[in-house]
Formats: sequence, C-alpha cells, structure tokens
Amino acid sequence: MPKIADKYLAVDPWKIIEEGFDPERNRVSESIFSLGNEYMGVRGYVEEGYSGDTLLGSYFNGLFEESEVGAHYKGIIRSLRFMVNGVDWLYTRITIDDETFDMGTAAFSDFRRELDFKRGIYSRQLVWHLRNGKSVQLTFERLISMRVSNLGCQRIVLKPLNFSGAARIIAGLDFSTIHEDRNFRYWESVKQGSKQGISAMLGQTANTRNRLFSSYRLDLPKTAESVPVSEYNFTGHDILLELKKGEPAVLDKLVINVANKEPERSHEDVWDEGMKLAERYAGVNYESAAEEQERYWAQVWEHSDIVIDGDPDNQQGIRFCIFQLYQTYHGDNPGFNIGAKGLTGEAYRGLAFWDTESYCLPFYIFNNPKAARSLLEFRYKTLPHALERAKELDCEGAFYPIATIDGTESCDLWQHSNLQLHVGTAVAYGLRHYVNMTGDKAFLYEKGLEMLIQISRFYASRGQWGQKSGKYGYFGVMGPDEFQLMVNNNCYINLMAKKMFEFTLQTIAEMEEADRPAFAGLSDRLGLTVQERLDWKNKADNMKIPYDEETGIYEEHDGFFDMPHLDIHSIPVTEFPLYSHWSYDRLYRYDMIKQPDVLMFMFLYSGEFSLEAKRANYDYYEARCIHESSLSPSIHSILAAEIGRQEEAYKFFEFATRLDLDNYNRNTREGLHTTSIAAAWMNIVYGFGGMRSDGDKLLFNPSIPERWNQYSFPITYGGTQLAVEVDRQQVKISVRSGDPVEINVYGQDYIVGPAGIELSLEKVG
Ligand code: BGC
Repeated sequence: MPKIADKYLAVDPWKIIEEGFDPERNRVSESIFSLGNEYMGVRGYVEEGYSGDTLLGSYFNGLFEESEVGAHYKGIIRSLRFMVNGVDWLYTRITIDDETFDMGTAAFSDFRRELDFKRGIYSRQLVWHLRNGKSVQLTFERLISMRVSNLGCQRIVLKPLNFSGAARIIAGLDFSTIHEDRNFRYWESVKQGSKQGISAMLGQTANTRNRLFSSYRLDLPKTAESVPVSEYNFTGHDILLELKKGEPAVLDKLVINVANKEPERSHEDVWDEGMKLAERYAGVNYESAAEEQERYWAQVWEHSDIVIDGDPDNQQGIRFCIFQLYQTYHGDNPGFNIGAKGLTGEAYRGLAFWDTESYCLPFYIFNNPKAARSLLEFRYKTLPHALERAKELDCEGAFYPIATIDGTESCDLWQHSNLQLHVGTAVAYGLRHYVNMTGDKAFLYEKGLEMLIQISRFYASRGQWGQKSGKYGYFGVMGPDEFQLMVNNNCYINLMAKKMFEFTLQTIAEMEEADRPAFAGLSDRLGLTVQERLDWKNKADNMKIPYDEETGIYEEHDGFFDMPHLDIHSIPVTEFPLYSHWSYDRLYRYDMIKQPDVLMFMFLYSGEFSLEAKRANYDYYEARCIHESSLSPSIHSILAAEIGRQEEAYKFFEFATRLDLDNYNRNTREGLHTTSIAAAWMNIVYGFGGMRSDGDKLLFNPSIPERWNQYSFPITYGGTQLAVEVDRQQVKISVRSGDPVEINVYGQDYIVGPAGIELSLEKVG
C-alpha cells in the first residue's frame, strides 16, 4: 500500500496553517480550508478572482442537477443526479489605481491562511505590492454560521501600509459559476431586487428547476460610497473606499442563502420566503455572528474533543476530522445526508453511500444522537424511492441506492448500482446500532420497523436457493470489496442479510408485545403476513455462509479461494491507484481485494467472532488487501489493535487523521474524504480505545500506541456522557454527566458513575 505523506501545512493543535503560497497546492488547500454547516459549504477558494488553478466551489446540500445516461436495459438507471455548484456569494474584486488584485499575477508577500477550529473561521492574509510601489495588507475572513443554517459572513480588511488613497471594491452575488465536471453553467437568474439595504437574486437550475435565493447586506466604513451594479446573473455593489495610511478599512458582507426544491411554488413565493429570512437576520453583524460561532464551537469541543498527548500531528489531525464532521452534518436540517466528499468538491458528485451508516453513524451516535437519528430519517424519507427501485430490479420491498443525493439511484456504473446490495443491510445495522446505544425504541417502532420490513422483503425476493447446497444466498452480486464482480454468495452480503432478517423478526416480536395496537396498524398498512415472517426465518436459518472449517477462514464468496493468487507487494508502486493504471476488467481476476469485506463484518458483529477467528481472517485478507479505498486502512487498524498487533495498528492509523492534511492519496484537490474522516474517529475510539458497541452493552479493551503518553475521548451513551482516559499505566472511565451506566472493561462488568473506575492498562490481544 504505497502511501506517502506530502507534509506541507504547519502543525498546530487548534488550527490549520498555511504559510507562504504554493499555487501548485492551491486546490488541495481549497479543500482543506473548506467551510460548511451541513446546509451549505464553500471551498477555501480565493474570492477576489484568481487566474491560477482553482475550483470555485459553493455547494448546497441536496440541490442537484440531472443528466441522461447509459444504455437503456431494464434496471439500469436512466438519469443521474449530482450536487450542483451554486452561487458565488463571496464574489469580490479589489482595484487600486487601475490594478486589480489577482494572486495569479500580482506581487504579494506574507501570505498566511488559517482555519481556526475554536472560532470556526477561515482567514487569509497577505501584503499586496502594487506595480506603482504602494503596499496594502489584505485580510479576508469568512464563516458559515453553525447556528443559523442560511447565514454566511465575509469580512475584508484593507490596510494601506505606505500610502493614503482610494480603493474600489466590487462585492456581490454571482450565479455564473461553472460546474467543472460538466463544464456547464447550470444557473439562470430569474429575479433580482433590493429592499432596505438587502440586495438579492433568485437563481434556478437548468433541468431540475431547483432554486436558490441569495441575498446580502453590506456593513461599510462611514466614508465609503457605493452604487448598486447589476449584470447578467450578477448583482452587487461598486464601492469606493478612502484608505488612510496605517488604518484598517473594514467591509463586512452578511449573506442569507435559501435553497428550494419545491417546483410547485412560484418564484414570488420562494423570493418572499428568502426576503423574510434576510430581514429577520438583518440585525446580525459580523462580530455578533463570529461570537456566536465561537460559542458553538466551544460547546462542540467541550462535548467531542479527543486529546492526544505525545503526537502533535495526530492531535491536529483528529481535531480537523471532528471539525469537518460537525461542519458536514449535525442534524439541524432534516432531509440531508453526508456525501462521500461532504460539501467540499464535485468528486463523487455529492452523493451519499453506505459510508453514512457504516462509517459515519457511529461518530454521531456517540457524539450527537439527534444527528444520528436525523441520518436514519433520511432513509425513511426516501423509502418511496427505494420501493420504486426494487420494482425496477424485478424485486419486492425496498432497495436502497448505492449512491444518492435525493433517494434515487445515481450511480451510473450498473456493476455497482445493480449488484451492490449492502446499503439496505447497512441501514438495518445502523438502526439496530442506534437503538441499542440510545434506547430510542419510539423511532424504531414509528419508522424503523417499516424500513426493516421493506428491506427484508427486498432481500427475500433478491436471493435464491443453491441447487446443490440447498442453501439460501445472493447470486450475481458485488460486496463491499469492489474488486470482485458478479460473484455468488458474497459472505458479507449473506451474513449481513441473515442478521438483518433476524433483527426485523426480533423487532416485530418486540413491538407486538410492547404496543399491540400500533403494531397491528403497521402490519395492516404494510400487509405483513405470517408466511412472510416464516419465510424470512427460513432464509436466515438457511443462509449460506462460505467458510473453511479447517482454516477457520470465511471465504469472501463462492470460489474465492480458487482464484489466481497475486502477491500484492509485487505490484510496482507506479501502478497505483490500480483504477487508473490497469484495464478495468483486469482488476477482477485475482484474489486481491480493494477493501475489507470479510473483515468488515467481523468488525461490525465483533462480539460473534473469537480472537482466533479474527486473527486467522486478518492474516489471510490483510495479505490480499491493497486498500484502494480510503475507507479501508482504519478497519484493518481496528482489527490489528484488537488482535494485539499494535505496531501494525499504528501503521494503518497513520493514514487516518491526516489523509487529507498530508494529501496521502494525492487527490485531496478534488475534495475531502469526508466519510474516511469518520473512519479516523472510529480508528481511535474502536481501535486504540477498544470500544465495541455491537451488543447491548458498551465494551472497552483499551491499548495505547507506543508513541502516545496519554489520550482521552468522550462517549455519549444512553444519555450519559462518559470520559475515557488512557495513559501508559492506567485506564480511567468516569461519568461526566448523566446517570451511572453499566459497561464492560477488559471482560469485567462495572457500574460507572462520576467517581469513575481506574484500572491498570492491560495487554490487548
Ligand atoms: C468504496 C466504497 C465507498 C465509495 C464512496 C468507493 O471507493 O469502494 O465502499 O462507498 O468509495 O466512499
């Protein structure tokens, strides 16, 4: 697995700092300095116009465009939806004495950008040296409010260092942004206007008629003069500033954006809603928004910080991960999901995958259960699409899409969209996990069970019985390991389906007992029959789980053990990533795997497998895994830690928290690996912390990496907040707030309260 860090940014516990500008790395930095608040996101692009390499990305969760795709065989998708690049609400141009500032051509010095995790503010500073000898210090700040989803703020400060004179600034809203991947401008302005100092524009997308209201208000120095300017797809102000030597002139822009996906509403109606909101927040100024932002983040760090003593790189890395996870999603806006790149780039088209339930959900369950529930709500809300999709595939029940922005399938590779069945079982697993850890049975009964029944129907109609084995299983599928195509009885899919059937049946029995009338109502509404329940039980009981008794190794799918072997270490470094260097079909001819498949279910259902079984399967599959997915190393790290391979666990962990900060995969320029960032959190908590949450009770088997002196993390569990602290001698677990809880540490049960428990650190594995 040839991955090498590209160390560039300064290491700091609470900030990302870039000192000096490297145009070659600008796009990488734009991704890293992204801001977001789950509703909207902006890359750290240069707002005053930049002629160098840039991706001017401004995204709104759930706003999408659409295009026709593919050969029209039945079941293969016909249209593909993707997150569309939105309004440039930071648009600025700065001109002094006929020279317009452009970092691509201008002379400048003292460049520094910062992303401050405590303030939630991105800033950039530099000194611009004009051709005529004048120098001016420019400072740009921006924030996207974590409290008011629609609010974005921008501050620009000009400080002339050796002159007094005029500067001209254009500030406004630009709807002429290009969607780079499609090389197309999707937005058309349908209305613009102003009212009491608020200037606004309503844009509409070309095909989907999604709308975006964007407005701004300026806070300018008293002496500034400004006139409105309006052009095609642009509304703004032309501002004249009188600068005085050594004195900073401050311009603030307060923006309200409102995204709309209700085509039935008139432009006037959407406009009025936006204007009302803009008026409501007209009293907000930059300072008050910044203070509010800082308070929000103080509370996040109070609640979710992971502290690592002895490893400054990973300390910064994990805080960056937590910061980005909160920015991407925190459950304030129903109906959103987490794209594989969050709101930081066009790659993966803003689509959400099984990553949400399998990799991200644990972070939210144990930090922000409301957000976890909200993610599961997305699947409930999009159930009608999943029911439709199952029909397209000649099946029953609900088939959840492998990649989606709005609940419809948007993966244009049929190999994935038709053969990968593992989102449904991930949703079922996520539900079970969430309910077991939070006790939220109400959600399970009100919405969860309906999803489980429809998911079960799909898996009961998609599977078949093997002629010889007489066992039930799934034929013509692709498991999480995307290097094995159209296989039979993928062990992960079969095992997860078996568990899903069992959980559905258990929930049915429980609800029948707990709330008979409500259950009867649900059962009638869905037409649930006794025969169906018996059928699911039969299929679960007779599910084929490919397994070799002699070695104790689960076979990834029928025939995997007989596939040609390839020594993955013999592949030249220059051939990675294989997707770019190997013919597509060549990937599928070996016993080489892209990412954990058997090991994934051994992690998810950890309690059901012995250490010996984990060891045997880890040794077998680790030797065959090339980790071409960034989701992969953390799972291997977690298992390595569990079986006592501490060094190996740390080796895999090295890519986790700093995957983007050190651009390990050399593709951070396209956006952040947001869902892998969630895996980094799991890597610490489940890996070194040894936490397991697949049973009814939390377990911990903590260990500590060689180079760390101490680390600690908080866990919210059943309404109680626990603090877990591990140093080289001891493990301390205590209740920070809430009732005492029962947990298991190193195989012993304890009731933990505020005083906590202190145990000696044990050797794990
Ligand atoms: C991985 C998938 C994942 C997707 C989005 C792919 O490379 O193989 O497991 O869902 O990326 O992160």
